[in-house]
Order: sequence, then structure tokens, then C-alpha cells
Amino acid sequence: MPCLYVQVTDPSEQMAPSTGSASRHERLREELIRSIRHSPLATIVTDAIAANAIIAVNDAFERLSGYEASEVIGRNCRMLSGAETCPASRAILRQAVDAGRPAFVTLVNYRKDGQPFQNAVMIAPVYDDNGILAFFLGTQLIVDGETRNLAKANARLADLPPQQLRVLEEMARGRRHAEIAKKLGLSIKTVKMHRGALVKRLGVQTSTEAIRIAIEAGL
Ligand SMILES: Cc1cc2nc3c(=O)[nH]c(=O)nc-3n(C[C@H](O)[C@H](O)[C@H](O)COP(=O)(O)O)c2cc1C
Repeated sequence: MPCLYVQVTDPSEQMAPSTGSASRHERLREELIRSIRHSPLATIVTDAIAANAIIAVNDAFERLSGYEASEVIGRNCRMLSGAETCPASRAILRQAVDAGRPAFVTLVNYRKDGQPFQNAVMIAPVYDDNGILAFFLGTQLIVDGETRNLAKANARLADLPPQQLRVLEEMARGRRHAEIAKKLGLSIKTVKMHRGALVKRLGVQTSTEAIRIAIEAGL
């Protein structure tokens, strides 16, 4: 089973970003795909320009959903929903997608074999350097019942120094390093340093896992 399946995109099929920024867009895409590879948490990347078609999933997602990567690439994650999926939770995701905002919900989803499970889903937008909503990151976790654990997530964030917390908050809104640096009056190098430090301090392996904690905490 492949660790990661990456869709080879024909640029002519997409409403591609303007030529000048195309390679930066591509670099961002590759960076995101690389970043989810080794996460122990089920994680996917979707293309916000192409109706959030899945462009990459990691091993953990394949295990959680029962689908091989090649079976889900190009599809929308709503394929996991079904008869028992709460319409209100689904609407929260839809509104967040439409507004380019993060969201955290728990809802019933279905594995490939039809088995239902409670899925605590986090989605987070990723804006490109031009401020265009380019991708979404999504993480999925099987839970028992309703377990958005605000208190626990907040307790984890309480260990972060204020500057790292602010960087994480901006990351959770999908902002890139350059924009975070500008907004917080820091150098890009310092933002990257804070990002590395906060990932370590939270005891996670990837920025996406840190973002999930922030969004779960309602940051
Ligand atoms: C990155 C990302 C990950 C998502 N993951 C899930 C998921 O695991 N399960 C789910 O039911 N919906 C998930 N969604 C939400 C669906 O794609 C869709 O937005 C939702 O079903 C609401 O839209 P609809 O009512 O048009 O189906 C995800 C969305 C995004 C952008």
C-alpha cells in the first residue's frame, strides 16, 4: 500500500492561478503533501480551487477510512457521510468551506465497508501568498461519542508562550509565514522558529496536528 498517493494534475484541467504564481502554488501544494506524509493522524489535502477534491491522503487516512488513496483522490470528503450523518454538523463544515474558515465537528461517517464511526473532523484553510484560498487540510479521528475536548485542548495550549500562541492562531487561519511575519512584526525566520518550537512543545509531529489542537480549542 503506498504511503501517499499524489494526483498528477493536468494544469489545463484546472482554473490555474495566474502564470507568475503558478510555480509558487505548485510549491505550496508539494509542501502540504510532504507535511502530511508522516503524521500518525489521518490527514488529507484538498484543492479549494477544484471544489475540494482530495489531492493527497496519508497512510493513517487509508487505515481509518478503509479506502486506498487511489479510490479517493479526486473525490470530495462528503463521500464519507451517509444516512446517519448529522445535517447540522455537515452544514457547519459546508459553511466553513464556503467562508474559507477552520472548523471542528464530530459526525457519523462510514468506512468503505459500510461500518459507521464517530469522526472528529478538523478542517483548516490554506491561503497562498496572494491571499487566495488554495487548499484545505483535513484531519479525522475516530472517537467515542461527542468529544470535542475544549478543556483538554486549551490545557495543551496553556504551555505555549504568547508569541507562539499568536503564530499558531495565524497558522490555524491558513496564513503563510510571510503574512504571519508581517502581521506580528517578526521576521520570517522567527516565525518558522516559533512554528518548530510550538510543534515540539505540543508534543506533535506536524504543523497540521498543532493546528488541529488550536481549532479544537476554539482559537
Ligand atoms: C479538507 C476537508 C476535509 C473534510 N473531511 C470530511 C470528513 O472527514 N467527513 C465528512 O463527512 N466531511 C468532511 N468534509 C466536508 C465535506 O467535504 C463537505 O464540505 C460537507 O459534506 C458539507 O458539504 P455538503 O453538504 O455539500 O456535502 C471535509 C471537507 C474538507 C474541505
